[in-house]
Amino acid sequence: MELVVEPLNVRLNVDSGSNLLDVLIANQLPISYSCMSGRCGTCRCRVLSGQVRSSGPEAGRPHSDKDDYVLACQSVLTDNCTIELPEVDEVVVHTARIVKGTVTAIEEATHDIRRIRVKLAKPIEFSPGQYATLQFTPEHIRPYSMASLCDDAEMEFQIRRAPDGRVTAFVFDDLQVGAAIRVSGPLGGAYLRQKHTGPMLCVGGGTGLAPVLSIVRGALAAGMQNPIHLYFGVRSAQDVYDAERLQALAAAHPNLTVHIVVATGPAGPGQRSGLVTDAIEKDLKTLTGWRAYLCGAPVMVDALNLLVTRMGLAPSQVHADAFYPSG
Ligand code: FES
Repeated sequence: MELVVEPLNVRLNVDSGSNLLDVLIANQLPISYSCMSGRCGTCRCRVLSGQVRSSGPEAGRPHSDKDDYVLACQSVLTDNCTIELPEVDEVVVHTARIVKGTVTAIEEATHDIRRIRVKLAKPIEFSPGQYATLQFTPEHIRPYSMASLCDDAEMEFQIRRAPDGRVTAFVFDDLQVGAAIRVSGPLGGAYLRQKHTGPMLCVGGGTGLAPVLSIVRGALAAGMQNPIHLYFGVRSAQDVYDAERLQALAAAHPNLTVHIVVATGPAGPGQRSGLVTDAIEKDLKTLTGWRAYLCGAPVMVDALNLLVTRMGLAPSQVHADAFYPSG
């Protein structure tokens, strides 16, 4: 059977029953992907003609004309079809690798967030907003987003202690400066799109600030002049960290505006009270022509996704990274 990939006009002979994402990767076609399990939405592409079959939770259901977006990782090719890849000129593919590193600093960011700095034996190329898997020991392995940039001397991660979390308990109670770890990556499709010239909405909830910091710093370092609106949403004032760092960035870059929004209890100096979704809706009339980067807890990312869609963004203009709890 034949698979046609637009807008590249690539024609491939493929075996019926092949997974669409596997075929695209094997043929080195520019597709972003991350979870490979149907959760993150990164590998979304469009079926222009023909059919693919879902292999995910709705296994067996053929795609219909009303529903022309599919997740490549959850799609099986069963018939001739034509698909369209999103943003082919914006897809960045870095070779994933596993590199040894050393923990050089463990800092207390808040009562339940630690900042970990890691010096790698060899650099890992990644785009701002991506994440990597940290292996502290063979039994303690979790993915975390980089708050740093590729060119920084050390990688920076921000880790919240999860209630009853086995891995985060290890990080908080046992991890020592000087520890040898393994870093594998990069992963994730919610990375900075450098060709976008319109305004950017960058929202981090809790440690969702880490990838947002990387994205914002990456945009500024690349000389992007886009108006950038960074919202940092936290539960209470005691959860705020990096406020001075954010304000220093804003002071140095007139195109960056920073809002720290505290959901419950009194807000500190220079902070706002309320939900981050309400703050965005109050401040911004429309998001037409914008890009949004949304990072944090799934419930917050879901609420933000609904909001930005209502305010004018199409799914292809929204790059979301929901942190599913894993302890
Ligand atoms: Fe396909 Fe995440 S949904 S890679």
